Amino acid sequence: MPIAIPVSPAEEDAIQQQVETLLGQMTLAEKVGQMNQVDSGGGHSVDRHRHSIQAGQIGSVLNEVDVEVVNELQRIAVHESRLGIPLLIGRDVIHGFKTVMPIPLGQAASWNPELVCECAKVAAREAATSGVNWTFAPMIDITRDPRWGRIAESLGEDICLASALGVAMVEGFQGDDLTSTGSIAACAKHFAGYGAAESGRDYATTNISENELRNVHLRPFKAAIDAGVQTLMTSFSDLDGVPATGNAFLLRQVLREEWRFDGFVVSDWDSVRQLAIHGLTTDDADSALAAVTAGVDMEMAGGAYLHHLPRLVEQGLVDQAVIDELVADILRVKIRLGLFENPFTNPSDLPEIADDHALATARQAALQSAVLLKNDHHTLPLSARQLTSVAVIGPMADAPYEQLGTWIFDGDTQLSVTPLQAIRDMVGGHVDVRHVPAMETSRSRRSDAFDEAAEIAGASDVAILFLGEESILSGEAHSRADINLPGDQAELVRRVREAGKPVVAVIMAGRPLTLTNIVDQVDAILYAWHPGTMGGPAIADLLFGVESPSGKLPVTFPRMVGQIPIYYNQKNTGKPPSPETIVHIDDLGVRAAQTSHGLTAFHLDAGYKPLFAFGHGLSYADFVYHSITTSSAAIRLGDTFQVSAELTNMGAVEADEIVQLYVRDLVGSVTRPVKELKGFKRVRLVPGETLRVDFDLHTDDLAFYGRDMQLATEPGVFHVWIGGSSETELRSEFHIVDGN
Ligand code: NOJ
Repeated sequence: MPIAIPVSPAEEDAIQQQVETLLGQMTLAEKVGQMNQVDSGGGHSVDRHRHSIQAGQIGSVLNEVDVEVVNELQRIAVHESRLGIPLLIGRDVIHGFKTVMPIPLGQAASWNPELVCECAKVAAREAATSGVNWTFAPMIDITRDPRWGRIAESLGEDICLASALGVAMVEGFQGDDLTSTGSIAACAKHFAGYGAAESGRDYATTNISENELRNVHLRPFKAAIDAGVQTLMTSFSDLDGVPATGNAFLLRQVLREEWRFDGFVVSDWDSVRQLAIHGLTTDDADSALAAVTAGVDMEMAGGAYLHHLPRLVEQGLVDQAVIDELVADILRVKIRLGLFENPFTNPSDLPEIADDHALATARQAALQSAVLLKNDHHTLPLSARQLTSVAVIGPMADAPYEQLGTWIFDGDTQLSVTPLQAIRDMVGGHVDVRHVPAMETSRSRRSDAFDEAAEIAGASDVAILFLGEESILSGEAHSRADINLPGDQAELVRRVREAGKPVVAVIMAGRPLTLTNIVDQVDAILYAWHPGTMGGPAIADLLFGVESPSGKLPVTFPRMVGQIPIYYNQKNTGKPPSPETIVHIDDLGVRAAQTSHGLTAFHLDAGYKPLFAFGHGLSYADFVYHSITTSSAAIRLGDTFQVSAELTNMGAVEADEIVQLYVRDLVGSVTRPVKELKGFKRVRLVPGETLRVDFDLHTDDLAFYGRDMQLATEPGVFHVWIGGSSETELRSEFHIVDGN
């Protein structure tokens, strides 16, 4: 249940009053100053920005994290500028500050909103010690393309999951009182469509129909706004011919008129001036005009607003009222944050950096985000009692920086505990832990150390291969066209396999990798994403069975790149494939068949199924689902209803399981996906236990944008499934009937 920012109507009136009073005192130049965000520029930011702040020409500074410098910048703003308006201090606090949590895509694999909220809370508190009062997170772009480097920063491919976790992050960053120490403003980004960049090339054009935009890409933003997110950031990308930073349909019609958003919108870095590079505008002045007209409140870097807005107003091209409206949005957020009363930071008001709670949260998040993709013959968990030696091999086994992943400007590598260190700490007393990195980096193409790796694998009871991608291979502007394990890692796997011992692969990466070329070479795969500071201990706990893996995939894993985009909630098409209708390229006849048999939507060389489906994730327990029921077979529009199922832990260990509920609306005014996640719950069962899990749904939860672009639930027949992955077959059915 999203929180609304707890501000009463009376308080809102008082805030509006304060905004109007300020606006009444401001010159045009001061107003434009509030709309200008500058980069700190590294060292000497006080000297660099002193005069502009004194002159009221800066509303926000990004990338300054030295608390003394921040306090001095605030002092200048508050005491030396005419109106004393404090600064917003922005920073990309994406998945932790000094203590690094798993990358957002990893956190999404935990399917645990409370934990994700706690991760954001810890990050906010740590960042606040530096005077940061605004983070550029969460990134809630839906993406179905693992080539895109920023998938690491996303919450995956699904609307329901990304919305719930995006809301959790907003709640974590902003807390339940924006004015309290340790609460910082969140920024839902990138509005909108960024995740649909063609072929996953960052910044590339998107092609999204309005129906798809509304039903998929915009939904998490609406959820974040309902949860009280204070700011939004525009996307770098082009949407239907109008780059997002100049897109009035998005920023005015949808955001302000339909959704009544009353926070503010910041451009992405220099994306105002880039409107000219896109070819939408002629020069910087024209770009400032387009962005301001579209409704971008603040420009991040670039200076087009600062340099051109005053003249555009004087020339009558921009109405003063438009400027007032945008400045009011910014001032409102500054007031809500309590910055006028409390502009300065005293780090000792906040918990210590990387305190026990922060590290425990990071560890729990890493633990719950790892996904056990494969576990033949119960290779995992390893038994510390029965082993005498283990070979720890691979470029990611002892790489304190690489395990942190992308966007870790402030991450402290000194805090990282690597898997090698954690395995030694856990079992090193009685198990011989042998280590060969075998590759200098994940990209390395030198195989000289492979002999040694194969040798220690052969001489040990088990080989654990730590594979994946270095941190630098994902993130902004770090897209890949080939998403196999980089470098010679596949060859390393092959060589270690030849040693004849059980092989466990632990993969740390910023995206789903195509694992087809190694999946049959290993006995077990634990997918740990970039797990952050405490990745090592969490992985050791999972490998040695202190805890069972419980993560589930928040995104589909393709067999090969050519399948992309491949996602579970696809449309059915008029020719859906089935095991009976597909044919493999090797079994294909010489001439096309004369019948329609086989003419379905699949690839001759890849079939139609992914390697690992959305929602997939194994456990050391064995969960069996049964007894699905709905509270009523016919549900009236406007009613709530319940869908339930039971699951039994048939295994020998206690474990968490993520129970997932999917629906399919069989007939709609526009075609609907073959399955849509509508609910999930993390539950814990002891061996032998049977649990009934109930999901409360409202018919509004089934609403979608139809041909008329209105959100509505359409009566009709729905299928509903409950299970442990999107491939569950435990199905029931209900009807939605018109309420009248
Ligand atoms: C560009 C990125 O797209 C955005 O997400 C980030 O917040 C800004 N740079 C600021 O670093």
